Amino acid sequence: MTKRREKESILVVDDSAPTLEVLQRNLSADGYKVFTAPNVASAVALLESNKVDLVITDLKMPKIGGMDLVRHVRENFRDTEVMMITGYPSIEGAVEAIKTGAEEYLAKPFTDEELSAAVQRALNKLRVRRCGEPQRAHSPAMRHGLMGESEAMRRILRAVGKAASTSAVVLISGESGTGKELVARAIHYGGERSSAPFVPVNCGGIPDGLLESELFGHVKGAFTGATESRAGFFHTADGGTIFLDEVSETSASMQVKLLRVLQDKEVCMVGSSRPRKVDVRILAATNKDLLALVTKGAFRKDLFYRLNVITIALPPLRERGDDILLLANHFAQRYAAELGRPQPRFSEQAMAVLKNYDWPGNVRELENVVQRLVLMTDGEIIHVPDLPPLMRFSALTRTGLDRTLAEVEAEYVSNVLASVGGNKTRAAEILGIDRKTLREKLRLSAPASEQPPLS
Ligand SMILES: Nc1ncnc2c1ncn2[C@@H]1O[C@H](COP(=O)(O)OP(=O)(O)OP(=O)(O)O)[C@@H](O)[C@H]1O
Ligand SMILES: [Mg+2]
Repeated sequence: MTKRREKESILVVDDSAPTLEVLQRNLSADGYKVFTAPNVASAVALLESNKVDLVITDLKMPKIGGMDLVRHVRENFRDTEVMMITGYPSIEGAVEAIKTGAEEYLAKPFTDEELSAAVQRALNKLRVRRCGEPQRAHSPAMRHGLMGESEAMRRILRAVGKAASTSAVVLISGESGTGKELVARAIHYGGERSSAPFVPVNCGGIPDGLLESELFGHVKGAFTGATESRAGFFHTADGGTIFLDEVSETSASMQVKLLRVLQDKEVCMVGSSRPRKVDVRILAATNKDLLALVTKGAFRKDLFYRLNVITIALPPLRERGDDILLLANHFAQRYAAELGRPQPRFSEQAMAVLKNYDWPGNVRELENVVQRLVLMTDGEIIHVPDLPPLMRFSALTRTGLDRTLAEVEAEYVSNVLASVGGNKTRAAEILGIDRKTLREKLRLSAPASEQPPLS
C-alpha cells in the first residue's frame, strides 16, 4: 500500500562549515538527499545542474547574502521552495526574506524538531502546488493539512472553512500540540490572502522589551542602537496574516498596543508618533483559558473581546476517538516513507493502548511517539511491548486492568444492589450468596468514613 516517494532534495547554503555539517546530518537522517554549498556562487552553480526541491540558506554571508539567493531562486526556479535561516538580531531580515519569496524562515537557535517541521511545511507547499490541488487528493481524511474524521474535528474543519472565507479576527485555543498553528495556517492559506505572507510571531518567546519593535518596527534613533529605521512584522504581513501565538504571554502595556491596532487598523513604529494604516488579518492562539485570565485580571477584557470574534477551540486528542489511530497510521506512513522502510502496522492491543492513553502532549506527542516507533521497531507489526512504558502503564490504569479482585467484587456487589433498588434479599439471590455474607461484603467494601468506629 505504501508508495515510496522519490527522495526529495535539499540544498543547504551557509558559510559556516559546522552549521552545514549539522544540517546535512539531520536532513539526511530525515531521508532527504542533501547538497551543500559554502556560498551563494556555488549554490547557483549547483542549482544549474541538479534538481533541487528546497533551498535552505543562511541570511548573512560574506560577499553575496542569502537574500540575493532567495531572489535568484524565485526568479529562475519556480518549482523550488526557499527557506531562510536567520539569527535573532536580524529578524528584520526574515521579514525581508518572506517578502522576497522565502516560504519559511527559521530563527536561530532552532531544535532538530523545528528544522524538520519547517522543512516538511515548505515541501508540503511544494507538493500541493505541483498537484495544483489541495492535499486532500492524497487522503480523504486530510483537509487543509488537518487530519481527522471525528465529529469534533469535522466541526473544526467546518469552522476553519468559514473563518477562511472572512477577514475576521480568530482566536484559536487548545492544549499544547493540538494543532493551533496548523489551523492558523489553514485559515490563511484557505482564504483570499493566501498569496500574501503568513507571519507567525511567538509572543511568549520574544522578550517584552523587544516585542514592540519586532511587531511595529522602529524609526532611526528610537532607542540606543537603533541606527536605522526598521519595519516590523505588521508591515511584513501587509496584505496577509499575522499569527500572534501565545497571546496570553503579552505584557499589560503590549496588550494596550494590540488593542489599538485591532481598533484602528494602524500601527505606530517605536519612536514615531505617526500611525500608519496596515491591512493585516490577525489570528491569535492560546493554550491558556483566556477568559479565566480576564477574570483574574491577568488579561485585558476589552482585548479579549476584540480577539474573540470567532473562536476555534481545538479538542484534546484524547477526545477525538478513532482519529488517534488515523493519525498514528498517517504518521507511520509518513515517517516510514521518509526512512525508505515499509509502513509498520499496529497490533489490535497496541491500538487499544494508543486509544486509551491520555496524550497530554496531543498530536505532537503522538507524532513523536510514532516517529520513534518507526525508527526503533524492526518488525512489520508494532506490539504493546514496543510502546513507551509510561503509555502502557497509563493505558492499564485507564482500562481498569490494575484493580484487585476485591475492588472489582465490591463494585459488582454495589452495582447489583443499586440495580434492585437496595433490596438486599434480591441482591443476595442474584449474587448466589446468603444475606449474612452480603452484609459482610458490604461492610468490608464501605469507605472507612462509613464504617462503624472500632471500639
Ligand atoms: N489534525 C492534524 N493532522 C495532522 N497533523 C497535525 C494535526 N494536528 C496537529 N498536527 C501536527 O502536530 C504538530 C503540532 O501542531 P501545532 O504546532 O499546530 O500545535 P500547537 O497547538 O500550535 O502546539 P503548541 O501549543 O505546542 O504550540 C505539528 O507537527 C502538526 O503538523
Ligand atoms: Mg503552536
